[in-house]
Amino acid sequence: MPEDVFVAGIDVGTTKICAIVGCPQSDGRLEIIGVGLSPSSGLKRGIIVDREDATDSVRRAAEIAQAQADVRVESAYVGVTGAHISSVNVTGRTNVSPGPAVSAQDVQRAIQSARDAVPLPQDREIIHEVTRGFAVDGESGVARPIGMSGRRLDVELHAVTGNASIVDNVEGCVSDAGVSVSRRVLEPIATATAVITDAERDLGVILIDVGGGTSDVAVFIDGSIAHTSAVPIGGDHVTRDIARLLRVGFDEAEKLKCRYARAVPGLVEEDESVQVQLADGSRSEHVPLRLVAEIIEPRLEETFSLVRANIMRAGIYEQVSAGVVLSGGGSLLAGTAEIASRVLDGLPARVGSPRGLSGLTQAVAGPIYSTGVGLALLAARDGAVAGGAASEPVTLVDRFKQWWERLLPRA
Ligand SMILES: Nc1ncnc2c1ncn2[C@@H]1O[C@H](COP(=O)(O)OP(=O)(O)OP(=O)(O)O)[C@@H](O)[C@H]1O
Ligand SMILES: [Mg+2]
Repeated sequence: MPEDVFVAGIDVGTTKICAIVGCPQSDGRLEIIGVGLSPSSGLKRGIIVDREDATDSVRRAAEIAQAQADVRVESAYVGVTGAHISSVNVTGRTNVSPGPAVSAQDVQRAIQSARDAVPLPQDREIIHEVTRGFAVDGESGVARPIGMSGRRLDVELHAVTGNASIVDNVEGCVSDAGVSVSRRVLEPIATATAVITDAERDLGVILIDVGGGTSDVAVFIDGSIAHTSAVPIGGDHVTRDIARLLRVGFDEAEKLKCRYARAVPGLVEEDESVQVQLADGSRSEHVPLRLVAEIIEPRLEETFSLVRANIMRAGIYEQVSAGVVLSGGGSLLAGTAEIASRVLDGLPARVGSPRGLSGLTQAVAGPIYSTGVGLALLAARDGAVAGGAASEPVTLVDRFKQWWERLLPRA
């Protein structure tokens, strides 16, 4: 792999913007060469409410990553999410045009017929799609139909729809910050790319990215994506609960949560307490950490119950056997995996961190980086060069693809 090319991902989150720059390596890993993190302004629950502020935040994160990597990022993969998204699995069909085998045009026609089957009320559009598999003359399980002989081609498509203007605003901020959007990616799909193993995908796995404003869900069954959704509760709701019930400011509650809190009362000694400054500034008070856990636990139970209901509605809950992988800053709270496992009927739950990396791995070791890293990994798979040798001919893209296929053949 040439060393002068690189890929980039930008995660526009409710609490932070994360820009990742990486170089695909010949050993199959992505070498992280730049990481930019900036607190988000102008976003609520993954939705932009102040475009100028949000643009400034994106620009800052991109500048930090570029300065560290010592490159100019011209384009990036960008994550989109929010409570407005919903997903559906549809099928498409076409007759194979006369000739020796299935052609690229046949595949495109089949995919288009699947897209046409996606229910799309006004103001919604398909914001992300994944082909789950093909069938040639009724024989399913075909991954690459081009070149096969047959008369009829079917495709299964996972389509995610969302509010068009919300997505346009995210893309607009990134472009205004000087980076063109080479592809938008549904965030939990990007996150899954960074933290889930192939074996888990095969067995059936639930990814839950507990962010600041939303908890994003992606479910993989038999190796491919089967469901995506977002629940409108995240770590910020937990902080707000603590603030309201203890009568402390949001920042004080956030500090208490991140430094001292655990999500399950059983993980706290009976006599553990912490001093907090009351919102009126009059005095500080000792608060038992058991009480804090009792505030946090029901909110996380509610979150995971909503996730469970979404997956049940999709009719695939019973097919999950590997378990649950948690990501996002919300998963850093001790006891979160325990609650997820309890609510999701005893499925094993673990906290995932980005994998398949080299270089500045320590800088992206935590679960808040998974989405940004996943975006960069997907850009590498697609050969979406972010700058440097971007104007090289297509063969470069082919070499990227070969690199990715060696790394994650079915991601
Ligand atoms: N050490 C910690 N312990 C507990 N919670 C934490 C910790 N660090 C971060 N968080 C929480 O994680 C949340 C932010 O997570 P993350 O960075 O994944 O969100 P985001 O990507 O900005 O938001 P979203 O995905 O909803 O748009 C915040 O609510 C924050 O309080
Ligand atoms: Mg996020």
